[in-house]
Amino acid sequence: MTNLRIPGPTPVPEVVAQAGAAEMINHRGPEFAAMMKRTNEGVKKVFQTANDVMTLTSSGTGAMEAAVVNLVAAGDEVLVVSIGEFGDRLINLVNIYGGKCTELKFEQGVAADLNQIEATLKANPGIKKVLITHNETSTGVTQPILPDLAKVVHAIDGLLIVDAISSLSSVPVKVDEWDLDVVLSGSQKGWMTAPGLAFVSMNERAWAIADANKQPRFYFDLRRHQRSAVNGQTPWTPAVSVWFQLDKSLELMFAEGMDNIYARHHRLGQMTRNGVKAMGLQLLATEGVESDTVTAIRLPEGVDGEKLLQVAQDDFDTVFAGGQGSLRGKIIRFGHLGHVHEPDIEAGLEALKGALAKVGFKG
Ligand SMILES: Cc1ncc(COP(=O)(O)O)c(C=O)c1O
Repeated sequence: MTNLRIPGPTPVPEVVAQAGAAEMINHRGPEFAAMMKRTNEGVKKVFQTANDVMTLTSSGTGAMEAAVVNLVAAGDEVLVVSIGEFGDRLINLVNIYGGKCTELKFEQGVAADLNQIEATLKANPGIKKVLITHNETSTGVTQPILPDLAKVVHAIDGLLIVDAISSLSSVPVKVDEWDLDVVLSGSQKGWMTAPGLAFVSMNERAWAIADANKQPRFYFDLRRHQRSAVNGQTPWTPAVSVWFQLDKSLELMFAEGMDNIYARHHRLGQMTRNGVKAMGLQLLATEGVESDTVTAIRLPEGVDGEKLLQVAQDDFDTVFAGGQGSLRGKIIRFGHLGHVHEPDIEAGLEALKGALAKVGFKG
């Protein structure tokens, strides 16, 4: 079987794939309602929150758009902290919906600096909404500042929106303990489920802002989703087959135990980083903020990234991801999240080593 070592979609366990092949049910009937009750409880547990978490039929970007249309009004002053492509996507969304966006961008490979965020908020007292990516999938960096950032944002009576799409479920994101107002995740990442569902948690602070927000919205109106969920339904037809998968994958996740899942991701992240460095390669992420879900590897001088990815796929049946945006041709990304274990990493490292040798890298 192909070793899919990209940072999402990730491989799904056989039983999860089979769950998705079950016959269709009435999405307004009792079976769906019972399943939705189970998955809502499960998803909340993974989010470590007592808040409502809405499950949307969309990719992760839909959850990002939902956060923006529900919480940002045209003309609102907003700070977006970006450390890569997905942070830049938040900037785009805020701009498209008419927010007055202050961009605080950091170099690729580093985490955001809390002091600079604090200084920016001080210099712009009109800003009451802050958006940030927890795990920047384009650079392989996890931001360690969320609990402190939440305190800073709440000290100015602000709202913190966190894209945890490629981290939550693989690394700890303590939504309630860290007091994160709005948090996003997506099924095709650590959840061991096919693409198609996205999650948005909202606390009371966020609901109050959403209710007062006049920004037009329909498909992603989160109050509609919350109200439908009370009756075990979604406002629009859900991706039922992916939902079947989620139901099964949550069962597997709780059988393994969330702490064991976090420990496994840390172990595998470390194993990947050590293996890559042993080949003489360098990571993009600075030391101490490397992601346990994806490793961004700098391409050595003279190595053609496109060719490397092709050889890995053709000769080693292993798929890595390339760089995005300005990192295209400069890095490759090795995913290690979701249904992944030591042999997958070992095979991935072997494939990388073999492909590098074939494209002429001497090490
Ligand atoms: C951090 C992050 N944010 C947002 C997204 C966008 O999600 P999707 O591609 O599911 O729309 C991704 C997906 O790669 C991501 O990793």
